[in-house]
Amino acid sequence: MKQVKLHDKEFRVSIPAEKIQDAIAQMAVKINNDYKGKDTPLFISILNGSFMFTADLFKHIDFVCEVTFLKLTSYKGTASTGAVRQLIGVNEAIEGRDVIVLEDIVDTGITLEQILGQLKSFEPASVRVASLLFKPEAYQKDLHIDYIGMEIPNDFIVGYGLDYDGLGRNLPDIYTLIS
Ligand code: IMP
Ligand code: MG
Repeated sequence: MKQVKLHDKEFRVSIPAEKIQDAIAQMAVKINNDYKGKDTPLFISILNGSFMFTADLFKHIDFVCEVTFLKLTSYKGTASTGAVRQLIGVNEAIEGRDVIVLEDIVDTGITLEQILGQLKSFEPASVRVASLLFKPEAYQKDLHIDYIGMEIPNDFIVGYGLDYDGLGRNLPDIYTLIS
């Protein structure tokens, strides 16, 4: 079994690269089918974690489209509100567009809820969500996720864009923390 050490922790391969690529190819078939004939849909990729997923998915997309990248900034708010996260980098016209949000992973769903809430103010024609990974046991929201690559157990993972304290994003496979 392939293992890797990042900072102080050991991780073991749990999802090999081929399985990730299969899931992405299957997702692309559905997206291509659903958006056939639509007027230049806009993919919005949420950085940092989604960069690999976005690159690989995007190569399968067969309709005329655009992609843009957003980063969530988080800073300490007041004691009562806690961390406030805000979208930065929305430059493309979103109003009236069909938007597909690309996420690496939906865990509690808190990030996704904030993204969708803020996107709404730009008045897109439609918004769908595509997430490579989904942790059903950790999910606290009831927002619909339109395209899910794989459901995974509630364990901490790294690789394929996902990090542990900045490290591990370059790994082509996904690794799970050895508990
Ligand atoms: P949520 O707001 O709890 O849904 O978390 C979403 C974000 O947390 C993702 O976009 C990831 O950046 C990060 N995240 C969630 N689970 C993991 C994990 O297992 N490994 C690395 N990052 C994760
Ligand atoms: Mg992320």
